[in-house]
Amino acid sequence: MHISRCTVGIGLLQAIRAAHAQTAIASTTETPAPTTATVTVVDVPTATATTGAYFPPVGSIEPDYSAEGLDELWNVIGSVEAPPFTTTVTPTASVALPSPPPPLYPAFFAPEPKDILPQYKFPAGFKYGVATAAYQVEGAVKDEGKGPTMWDWASRQPGGVADNTTGDIVDLNYYLYKMDTARVAALGLNTHSFSVSWSRILPYGAADSPVNQEGVDHYSDVIDTHLEYGVEPVVTLFHWDTPLALQAYYGGFTSPKIVDDFINYAKAVFSAYNGRVKTWYTFNEPRVFCEQIASYPFNVTYAAGVNTSTAPFHCAYYLLKAHAGAVKAFRAMNISGEIALKNDDFVGTPWRANNTDDAEAVERHAAFQIGIFSDPLYTTGDWPQIMKDTLPEEYLPRFTDEEKADLLGSADFYAIDSYRSWFVSAPDNGVAACVSNTSDPNWPQCNLNMVYDAQAGWAAGVLSDPGTDWLGATPDGARELFNELNRRWPSPKIYVSEFGFSEPFENERTQLYEIKQDVARTNYYMTYLGEILQSIHEDGVPIAGIFAWAMIDNAEWGSGISTKFGIQHVNYTTLERTYKRSAIALSDFWAAHQS
Ligand code: BGC
Repeated sequence: MHISRCTVGIGLLQAIRAAHAQTAIASTTETPAPTTATVTVVDVPTATATTGAYFPPVGSIEPDYSAEGLDELWNVIGSVEAPPFTTTVTPTASVALPSPPPPLYPAFFAPEPKDILPQYKFPAGFKYGVATAAYQVEGAVKDEGKGPTMWDWASRQPGGVADNTTGDIVDLNYYLYKMDTARVAALGLNTHSFSVSWSRILPYGAADSPVNQEGVDHYSDVIDTHLEYGVEPVVTLFHWDTPLALQAYYGGFTSPKIVDDFINYAKAVFSAYNGRVKTWYTFNEPRVFCEQIASYPFNVTYAAGVNTSTAPFHCAYYLLKAHAGAVKAFRAMNISGEIALKNDDFVGTPWRANNTDDAEAVERHAAFQIGIFSDPLYTTGDWPQIMKDTLPEEYLPRFTDEEKADLLGSADFYAIDSYRSWFVSAPDNGVAACVSNTSDPNWPQCNLNMVYDAQAGWAAGVLSDPGTDWLGATPDGARELFNELNRRWPSPKIYVSEFGFSEPFENERTQLYEIKQDVARTNYYMTYLGEILQSIHEDGVPIAGIFAWAMIDNAEWGSGISTKFGIQHVNYTTLERTYKRSAIALSDFWAAHQS
């Protein structure tokens, strides 16, 4: 299987496939492109270990909803680092923005944020904000009744995270959310998209297990704080932090049992925060999540009968059923607002012009990366035909007519986490040979991402930090992508639910003046926002919100804190936040372009 976002250590199978993909590209004869390490697909592991993870055999821990039962779950994790304080901090002073940074370039070379496409404004009601996820920013993982999650576990497995960062403390946003919200408000941004951690609401995850009122109250105050500061809270129910209990009891998203448990959790969150949250997501990037659980270290935690090859598709099937069930409940409960899930990735451009195999590879890419979760919701209620033609039922369970009916229309808008847009090529043995051979290293996707052009081998975009080899800044492809999304999966409204950039080698900078000077990230945001304005005004694409990933530096999954996405720096000794140039640029851009 070809994985285009590798967020954790990479399994042996993936390692072999990624290696093959590199060979395939390097040996392609049509291009004079370099044959060195710049010849790359985007699947580069951020950690090296591929074995050594331990998880209790699935089913060996019986559901036990007592304090002892919770201890047993935490024992799977081992010891947890306690945060330096355990009460919510209330800011005592208002947040002052720093004096404006000097222009980066002469105006003839690059305009300042306010001068970019000044004729275009964002439409009324536009959501212009930032994004985070519970595991990546909260810390306080064992506080106030929370149960462990699979990322609390994964971060402790050998090689699970490149720099061994755990979520134990990170940004301690769990106690610092008031300050963090005040700092977003000070920038003038109007929205923050964050996730609720399932195991804070239900420490044992399961539908028949007790609700943790402290967890419910926590997010209630987080939401109220946002409303007080005029920062709209947008809530994601699941951003990859599966309750460890459910993995231990039955294998998490590799088991059908997850469906009812997720629906129950969703209902608890809907009823707790109904009326205060207007935009909801069930799942963040299900494709990345389902591929993540097919890799090390999660590949030792499956339900019986599931393996690394089938896990992503079984996960996709149960996750979609969970999504549809949650949306059904949302509507039956008359919850106010709108709901969808967050797709990710790009459609792609054929690597070689007029090459039918590459054109077919693009279609495969669109199907396996986006169509997998978009066709069922927006166009057919079913998997993309390409997937059904490729994958036998033991890999890809088929939907019943009733399931299709539940899926189709189960999203009120379209959301895309849109970080990049690469070229796509056929594998060097061609699409047909790959598709017909289940042992082909690129099966079943049978397409490759290409990060340089086919003619002269020029990089397709601005390179990011080495910890995120899947990422490059490719603003030139943004409009085409939004047009394609709008054409293929039409919806009344599109949110760019995440976009962002890892400043190359930011982790090696030691002085604040160096860290704050995040030029590549600033350029990323300014160029993408210009493209987004053009998409809205020149292409008529109904983009209604953007969310910069991320509000602050955070635990970047398998890369830990070594790869930075924040528009604010976090000093991991003092937990102090500092605005980077990109934060000020985003603020200035919004001030000049809001209607
Ligand atoms: C995910 C985030 C992640 C970001 C940068 C998105 O795919 O939703 O959790 O940190 O990309 O890798």
